[in-house]
Amino acid sequence: MNQKIKSEIEKSREKDKMLFEQNKFISMGEVMENIAHQWRQPLSQINSSVLVIDDVLHEKNFKDSIIEEKLLEIESLTKYMSNTINDFKNFFDQDKKYETFFLNELIEKSIYIVKGTFKANNIEIENNINNRYEYLGFQNELQHVIVVLLNNAKDAFISRKIIKPKIKIDIKIISNEYHISICDNALGINDEIIDKIFNPYFTTKHKSQGTGLGLYLSKKIVEQSMQGRLEVKNTKEGACFYIILKTADKG
Ligand SMILES: Nc1ncnc2c1ncn2[C@@H]1O[C@H](COP(=O)(O)OP(=O)(O)OP(=O)(O)O)[C@@H](O)[C@H]1O
Ligand SMILES: [Mg+2]
Repeated sequence: MNQKIKSEIEKSREKDKMLFEQNKFISMGEVMENIAHQWRQPLSQINSSVLVIDDVLHEKNFKDSIIEEKLLEIESLTKYMSNTINDFKNFFDQDKKYETFFLNELIEKSIYIVKGTFKANNIEIENNINNRYEYLGFQNELQHVIVVLLNNAKDAFISRKIIKPKIKIDIKIISNEYHISICDNALGINDEIIDKIFNPYFTTKHKSQGTGLGLYLSKKIVEQSMQGRLEVKNTKEGACFYIILKTADKG
């Protein structure tokens, strides 16, 4: 009897944690929405100021290559900022859309999301995808999975102090399936834990750094929303994660 109560309490605690994670995702989305809203106006104002300066200089026949270069730089930086905001906003978007998109483009977008922290940690990403791969599914959810995998590799690079951290990304088509591989050189996952990494709350990280839900939720997304598989293998250099999805039926 006691045991049963204990396990019920445990279950409801797990549910709470899961709800907490989901709510966290939703509130992050709301924060992004607000920032996007607040920044849109000043960003476009900066851009129009640049245009005015440009015009005035033109009228006065003022020519200076450094000033011209810097004005272009301001323009491209503000563009970059508004693109970034849009990307993050889309990432946290709760409206699930079942749509056709290109896997190669989604991977590029995912790389873009982590670009900042990866650059700061000297992590190289070798994206070997040269073709367009059409897919019908939930774009944002799949992007979430890719970002989780990239961030896990990043955490492994940092904690293991890997000298030349590198991630290779590839897509192969094997009998009506896309095999998206994300491989790192962070020394891999120990045999004792490799069967547990997809379990909820399994983490080797400190409490403040990992919830252990990343791979669990990713597997759920791939298997339940996309009817695919999420697999892992160790290589000589590190870990390889495979997102396996059915290619679109054209029938
Ligand atoms: N690329 C990798 N290299 C080495 N170990 C990994 C890699 N990816 C995952 N792991 C191991 O799997 C565990 C579970 O990963 P998961 O993403 O589910 O949780 P987490 O990263 O610990 O926390 P969070 O839920 O906050 O992401 C990690 O704690 C780590 O030990
Ligand atoms: Mg993780």
